[in-house]
Amino acid sequence: MELLTHQLLDESTTYRLRRNLLSDKNSWQEGIKTAGSHAAKVKNNLQLDRSSSTSEQSSKEIIEKMKSDQLVKSFSIPNRFHGVMFSRSGQGQSYGFHIDNPYMSTGRSDLSFTLFLSDPDSYEGGELCIQSVQDCQKIKLGAGQIVIYPSTSLHAVEQVNSGERLVCVGWIQSYVRSNEDRSILFSLEAGAKSILAKHGSSPELDLIFQSYSNLLRRLGD
Ligand code: NI
Repeated sequence: MELLTHQLLDESTTYRLRRNLLSDKNSWQEGIKTAGSHAAKVKNNLQLDRSSSTSEQSSKEIIEKMKSDQLVKSFSIPNRFHGVMFSRSGQGQSYGFHIDNPYMSTGRSDLSFTLFLSDPDSYEGGELCIQSVQDCQKIKLGAGQIVIYPSTSLHAVEQVNSGERLVCVGWIQSYVRSNEDRSILFSLEAGAKSILAKHGSSPELDLIFQSYSNLLRRLGD
């Protein structure tokens, strides 16, 4: 399965965001309010009210950062970042296996992301589990690191055994809805950029970049 893990935020930005989010004591509410009917049966956490100014400002900052991140852009070919929310899971809390809604009021979910905001040593458990054919891939990243994975995957958050897990989650509507097509484009662009960095521009490379653009036109919606 194709997923991207990446350091999105530096340490000081992560620290500032975390402090702002946690100090807004009045805007955290039961996560079950925002779950779909299937997900509601397995959801057990706290979420920051999306209409709060803390949520709006923090989401805006994170989306801006993702929009300007070259690796995130190449991997996800984003049309829109949407549905961003902040979630806290304390001791005993978890989120069972579920699939994200394919269409939300904010857009289509082609890719899901989780941005880890807590220091991984500050809580036990709380791994994001992404189901693959035979087992699940467990992901617990450093503060400021993001994982982006196909929304077509079943996933869960394991129970937090101590401490607290703070994350930002959201979705990406890509110009290319097929995971396989997006993966081909990602490799092609990465290869071409690497040739450019090593050998500089050339008429041959112009043809490869031309083909990349025209393939994106053909595969995108
Ligand atoms: Ni989910």
